[in-house]
Amino acid sequence: MIRATILGVGSYVPERVVTNDELRYLDDQHVRRDTVQTETNDEWIRSRSGIEARRYVPNDGVTTSSDLGLFAARRALDDAGVTAQEIDCIIFATLSPDIHFPGNAVFLQSKLGVDGEAGCACYDIRQQCSGFVYGLQMADTFVRTGTYRRVLLVGAELHSHSLDYSTRGRDVMVLFGDGAGAVVIGPKETDDPRDGVLYTHCGADGSGAMDLHLKIFEIKRAPFVSYDPRDREQNLSMYPQMNGKKVFLNAARTMVQSVGRALEKTGLTWDDIDWFVPHQANLRINEAVVQYGNIPPEKALNTIQQYGNTTAATVPLTIDHHRKLGTVKKGDVVLSTVFGAGYTWGSAIFRL
Ligand code: ACO
Repeated sequence: MIRATILGVGSYVPERVVTNDELRYLDDQHVRRDTVQTETNDEWIRSRSGIEARRYVPNDGVTTSSDLGLFAARRALDDAGVTAQEIDCIIFATLSPDIHFPGNAVFLQSKLGVDGEAGCACYDIRQQCSGFVYGLQMADTFVRTGTYRRVLLVGAELHSHSLDYSTRGRDVMVLFGDGAGAVVIGPKETDDPRDGVLYTHCGADGSGAMDLHLKIFEIKRAPFVSYDPRDREQNLSMYPQMNGKKVFLNAARTMVQSVGRALEKTGLTWDDIDWFVPHQANLRINEAVVQYGNIPPEKALNTIQQYGNTTAATVPLTIDHHRKLGTVKKGDVVLSTVFGAGYTWGSAIFRL
């Protein structure tokens, strides 16, 4: 039978490392000032989230999230031994697209040089921190049904330009970083039920939609964007707003349930799975999921310490990071669970 299999993985993070301490001194242009701009500290950030540093793109007015996606995509294509011209579908997951429309997939298509008359299908999805698993479910279905043969799935985020660099925004600002991850998915003829993508499941609960959101605009109003930088209440709409405690509790509870469901539906146990790769929102969420989900702690992989939360990028970025360290190897079986704004969530089990 035809199964969808992961042919290659790649990731990219910008060079600039911003430590928790440096973050205190950054102004809204990411320039380090002599005086503290945000009342926070390394101890608070580490103890609440596990984050030690994150990466930021240069504030050059040039770099976009589709660029970050491009760099990760090229690495995934190289890893897969697939040329850009062989890609017949791009799925781009991001909550920080280059512009409002069109979405990032067509920008990436053009940057990869697979546009024009022979261009491939381009899908843009959001689903925030759950974007990778949602995209993997789509790619798996496309490949198994023969709709597309070579799907490029990219998760890329440029958060650093949309954060509130002030004490008002510190609860959210300290959590996020820039980065990208990508995988190439293609068909494989196999009778092995444990090959390729073994399982995907996605869910959502829109009653939590406003617990973590970024407005920027409201289409019901005309003009639909109103922004006065001198008016603190007005300019709130430019920044993400979060009910941190509610998000935390829902994430931990739902991820535990989602892992349990994945094992129950597939009949697999932790003896069959090499690595647990949860979304990287908060180390404490992941530690709670490991504890309450009875997951062997030595199988849990994290990168939030180095990269912060890169939303749709976290899963491929974490896999690639640990592959470069030699921890994760080709052929390993991964169980990944994600949760994010929406609320949205999902789990996937796949062989690398
Ligand atoms: N530095 C210092 N103090 C801060 C900071 C900061 N960066 N941010 C908030 N505080 C203050 C608050 O103002 C508050 O002060 P107050 O009590 O005087 O009002 C206090 O710290 C709150 O502290 P705690 O109750 O200990 O904070 P909590 O344990 O709720 O942790 C956190 C906050 C880290 C945001 C947590 O709620 C969280 O991680 N939630 C999940 C959010 C998340 O991961 N979002 C990512 C996107 S969604 C996803 O990916 C799943």
